[in-house]
Order: sequence, then C-alpha cells, then structure tokens
Amino acid sequence: MKVTYHGHSVVTVDTGNHQLIFDPFITGNSLTDLKPEEVKADVILLTHGHSDHVGDTVEIAKRNNSLVVAPNELAVYLGWKGLNVHPMHIGGSHQFDFGKVKLTQAFHGSAYTEEDSQKIVYTGMPAGILLTVEGRTIFHAGDTGLFSDMKLIGELNHIDLAFLPIGDNFTMGPEDAKLAAEWLRAKQVVPVHYSTFPVIEQDPHAFADSLPGGVGKVLEVGESIEFK
Ligand code: NI
Ligand code: MN
Repeated sequence: MKVTYHGHSVVTVDTGNHQLIFDPFITGNSLTDLKPEEVKADVILLTHGHSDHVGDTVEIAKRNNSLVVAPNELAVYLGWKGLNVHPMHIGGSHQFDFGKVKLTQAFHGSAYTEEDSQKIVYTGMPAGILLTVEGRTIFHAGDTGLFSDMKLIGELNHIDLAFLPIGDNFTMGPEDAKLAAEWLRAKQVVPVHYSTFPVIEQDPHAFADSLPGGVGKVLEVGESIEFK
C-alpha cells in the first residue's frame, strides 16, 4: 500500500486493488501536483463540506464513478448532485470491500459554499477518518482543533500513520498538533493543512522535529510512504 501527500489535506492511498483519495481539493490548491482530470479514484473520502476539502469531488466522482464516503448531510447533498454516496456518521464504522472506515469527531465547521448565489449550505458535523486497510490504520484528522478525546482515539486504535493539520487559524497550530500527536500515539505523524494560503503558513520541519525521534515525518508534495 502506497500513501501519498498531494498538498493541503489531499492524501491518496493506492492498495493495488483500489485507489482512494481523501479531501480532493485540487483546483485552487497552490501546492498540489495533481490535475483533477487525471485523478483516478474508485473511492473518495471526505472529512467535511468546506470547499478546500470537497474540492473537485463532483468532477472526479462523475468521471470515475467513484463511491463518495462522507458524513451524512454532506453525503446526502452530494447524492443530490448525482454522485454515488455512502453516508456515515461520527462513531460509526463500516467494512467496505477496500477496507474499514470509522468516523471520529472533529471540532470545526462543515458547510458547502455556493459562490454564485452567495449561499452557505450547512452539511452537518465535520469528522476525522480512521481507515484500516491491509492491517494498517491511517488517521486523517480532517480540520479540527485539539480535543482531549484524541487520547481515547489513541487508546482504542493502533494508528500507524496520522495526518494532522498544523496550519493554525482554522485548525490546530503546531503546538496543539504536537499534543495531538502524543495523545493519538501514532507511529508516524505527517503534518498537513499548512502553507496553502498565507494565513496558514507554517514550517512543517520545525513541527516534525518537535516530536519524539522518528515520529514526525514531512512529506513533500508527491512524496509517499509505502507499507509492505
Ligand atoms: Ni474546513
Ligand atoms: Mn480546511
């Protein structure tokens, strides 16, 4: 299994049999190496409804006939746009053919912004996503502030790899993300959601260096971690 970072909160997982993508924000993402029209995904996993996470979901899902797994209200909304969706909600898990997904809480907002009509459509609660594939558990925290139940998530799950936001302003900054890393007890922690916009500019290496030896890992855009 190959897990690759594509800037902001975009992460792909290639299992050999399945191609998954988390939060495919590509158009407007100043950091990404992806082109929306080239993305192959049979599964799209969404943490919440903000445009820097839903991103190019509609286009990618229609072209690939992808299954979109998302918190219920967001899934319903995208279902009305003609996508093949699987709604879930916080605390719930489901065994799919590609692996197991469980949604965790995230302290943030969730809304789809329709720029043309200046309308905000609220899409329920935001979430984090625990994905277990081939015996490995990946935690994509979504956008969130620090919360102490990360200790519980760390106790209940053996997290091999966690993607944690460090950008500050909208999410945890590096200091809170350092505590999150400790509480989640993840074997490896990769910082995300930074430096895409000026207001979330951060030094990911300073964050990675602040974690105990070997835990922090900065992935450059397009760089992968492979699990054998
Ligand atoms: Ni957000
Ligand atoms: Mn965001």
